[in-house]
Amino acid sequence: MVRPRAGMDGTLSFGPERPEDIPAIRALHQAAFGGDYEADVIDGLRAGGFAFASLVARIGAEIVGHVMFSDMSVVVDGHKVPAAALAPLAVAEGFRGAGIGGRLVQMGLEAARVHGAHAVLVLGDPAYYREFGFDAAVLAHLRSPYPPGKLMALELVTGVLAGRGGTISYPPPFTRAQR
Ligand SMILES: CC(C)(COP(=O)(O)OP(=O)(O)OC[C@H]1O[C@@H](n2cnc3c(N)ncnc32)[C@H](O)[C@@H]1OP(=O)(O)O)[C@@H](O)C(=O)NCCC(=O)NCCS
Repeated sequence: MVRPRAGMDGTLSFGPERPEDIPAIRALHQAAFGGDYEADVIDGLRAGGFAFASLVARIGAEIVGHVMFSDMSVVVDGHKVPAAALAPLAVAEGFRGAGIGGRLVQMGLEAARVHGAHAVLVLGDPAYYREFGFDAAVLAHLRSPYPPGKLMALELVTGVLAGRGGTISYPPPFTRAQR
C-alpha cells in the first residue's frame, strides 16, 4: 500500500511509460544513481526490444518513480527458462519510504507473470528485495556474471531454478553501457 507523505500533493498514479516520459526517466535514474549507467541501460533495453514492462509512478505530471523489466536468458539443464530482469528501479529522493518502489515492483512482477516469465532476477540490496520473496540461494548452482550472493531470484514457477545448474546471461545493454 502506498502511504501519503509530505510533498505528495497531486494525484499519485502508476502506469506504463509514455514516449514523452523518456527524458524524465533518464533524469530520475541519473539523480538516483549519480551517473549515466542505469539511464543508458534503460535506453539500450528499450531500443533493443528487451524491455517488456517500463512502469512509472507520477504525482500530477511529475515522474517520481520508474522500474524496467526485460527478457533475459537462464539456461538450466540445457533448456531455456523464460526469465525476466528487474532493473533498474528508482524513486525520486523526496518521495522514498512511501511504498512507491514496492508498488512498482509488485506491478512489474504481475506484468512478468502475464508475459510468461517463470523467474525474475534482480541485483540489489538483499534487505530490500527479500521482502518481495527474492532469494540468492535459488541461484546457488547457476553460473552468474555477478559475484556469488549478489544476484537474487524469485521463482514465479516453483522449482524452475532452485538446486539446478546452468548459466545466467543478462541482455547486452547491461554490459555495453559504461559505468
Ligand atoms: C530502493 C528504492 C527504489 C526504494 O524505493 P521506495 O519508494 O523508498 O521503497 P518503498 O517505500 O516501497 O519501500 C521502502 C522500505 O524499504 C526500505 N528500504 C529502502 N531501501 C532499502 C535498502 N537499500 N535496504 C533495505 N531496506 C530498504 C525502507 O526502509 C522502507 O521500509 P519501511 O516500509 O519499513 O519503512 C529507493 O530508495 C531508490 O530509488 N534508491 C536509489 C536507487 C536504488 O538504490 N535503486 C535500487 C537499486 S537495486
